[in-house]
Amino acid sequence: MDVIRWCYFLLLSQTLFFSPSHTQTDSFTSILISQNGLDFVKNLLVNKAIASIIPLQIPRIEKSVKIPFLGGIDVVVSNLTIYELDVASSYVKLGETGVVIVASGTTCNLSMNWHYSYATWIPPMEISDQGIASVQVEGMEIGLSLGLQSNEGGLKLSLSECGCHVKDISIELEGGASWFYQGMVNAFKDQIGASVESTIANKLSEGVSDLDSFLQSLPKEIPVDDKAALNVTFTTDPILRDSSITFEIDGLFTKAETNQVLKSSSLRNSAPSSICPGNSKMLGISLDEAVFNSAAALYYNAEFMQWIVDKVPGQDLLNTARWRFIIPQLYRKYPNQDMNLNISLSSPPVVKISEQYVGANVNADLVINVLEADQVIPVACISLEIRGSGALRVMGNNLGGSVKLEDFSMSLKWSNIGNLHLHLLQPIVWTVIQTVFVPYANDHLEKGFPLPIIHGFTLENAEIICSSSEITVCSDIAYLDSSQHPRSGLSLPRSAPWINTLL
Ligand SMILES: *[C@@H]1O[C@H](CO)[C@@H](O)[C@H](O)[C@H]1NC(C)=O
Ligand SMILES: *[C@@H]1O[C@H](CO)[C@@H](O)[C@H](O)[C@H]1NC(C)=O
Ligand SMILES: *[C@@H]1O[C@H](CO)[C@@H](O)[C@H](O)[C@H]1NC(C)=O
Ligand SMILES: *[C@@H]1O[C@H](CO)[C@@H](O)[C@H](O)[C@H]1NC(C)=O
Repeated sequence: MDVIRWCYFLLLSQTLFFSPSHTQTDSFTSILISQNGLDFVKNLLVNKAIASIIPLQIPRIEKSVKIPFLGGIDVVVSNLTIYELDVASSYVKLGETGVVIVASGTTCNLSMNWHYSYATWIPPMEISDQGIASVQVEGMEIGLSLGLQSNEGGLKLSLSECGCHVKDISIELEGGASWFYQGMVNAFKDQIGASVESTIANKLSEGVSDLDSFLQSLPKEIPVDDKAALNVTFTTDPILRDSSITFEIDGLFTKAETNQVLKSSSLRNSAPSSICPGNSKMLGISLDEAVFNSAAALYYNAEFMQWIVDKVPGQDLLNTARWRFIIPQLYRKYPNQDMNLNISLSSPPVVKISEQYVGANVNADLVINVLEADQVIPVACISLEIRGSGALRVMGNNLGGSVKLEDFSMSLKWSNIGNLHLHLLQPIVWTVIQTVFVPYANDHLEKGFPLPIIHGFTLENAEIICSSSEITVCSDIAYLDSSQHPRSGLSLPRSAPWINTLL
């Protein structure tokens, strides 16, 4: 048998353990796939590869066989079709050069047509016969070595080596076959084996190049809403360790329409080797607090953080008469006038993450306006420093949450009505924050934003772990084998035929 290189053997003999040194990067989100996650993806790829290979046609083979007394016999086997392929076991390993996938104990079943003919001299005539046969290929080993690099912010997958080795082959003629035909057909074993090897290797290399096109066409941004998008540009080559692979992406929010980046100047230490306890989950996505701060800065700059409060639900608060004992001079100057409150953030909210706590500090200006005829008269402005605490949740593939008011402090910024007793205002401001501000924030936080997950995969049994300045989502993943899932996150193009089967 024409033995193809045992490339996987070479690959496996390479050192699989190494630890690249990493310095700081401007990546604010890391995605770590553990060995469990790699196994999951590998099984998915193996199954989808099999589904896309079958049925596989192998080119016809012609051969002239010399038989004593009869001379040259022309034999043709045609319509060779692999109709079944079973992988007994497979594994994925990470090596220095990339990812190695090996499938061993693979069997495949083929069907074929055979035909022979020869000419006799006395009497001169042509004798021929034909039939079908079934072929079993046993103990086939398939090895793939894939390189993974970042390329212009995307991911490039390349095939470093690919090999397929057939150990044994048996051919059985169907229907009234004699030892004679059998012997003849057996002469094809090596060629059929070699042909199976090269046809499968070619098919796999096509598959890898389709998968590469797919990866390269992944969007660099995930839309969050009409104002914001998440920058999911890869910032470094994937970091391969012996049992995990980490992808570093930018991870910050950018403006959806202008592509303007709101980058915090801080850098972060990147690529921890384990981001979920014991690496027991398939996937860990860790988000630096800079991600949340970029979101806060983006929405702040989009001027969506301003509220005119002209009624407080359930309470008739906004009339100077109600404020008679709180700010007597206001009532004296504008008796029985309606009022409104103009609350606007004076700087982007600042998110702080620690092991115990996710918190947000918000600075806001509260302007008290008196409404006189069709005039709005600002009378005083109070600076608020609001401290909230957050709870985070994973819903589907989104990270969302809610905030609650912890406390706030007030100081008078300016006033046209003299000094105010701020402590008397405390309950009113508290009510306004609780009834206007907190529900508004929670409305927006509830839905959250998409985590960088490839379309079709969903998080399962996700947990959130807070650490100093980082949030990590530790989760298993599932794959929805249907085109009917809602479009969110990274969506996949459906151009490549091999990918069509995958998705
Ligand atoms: C080729 O093989 C397939 C699958 O075994 C079979 O369905 C088909 O009829 C064959 N074609 C010819 C021309 O024999
Ligand atoms: C394929 O071949 C294996 C033996 O290699 C055999 O056990 C199995 O039944 C065959 N499958 C079909 C569908 O013929
Ligand atoms: C996305 O992040 C990359 C890497 O940090 C950066 O070079 C690029 O400018 C960012 N794109 C946008 C639209 O902000
Ligand atoms: C609300 O107050 C801010 C400054 O605190 C001001 O820029 C803005 O114009 C005010 N909005 C309205 C509608 O009065």
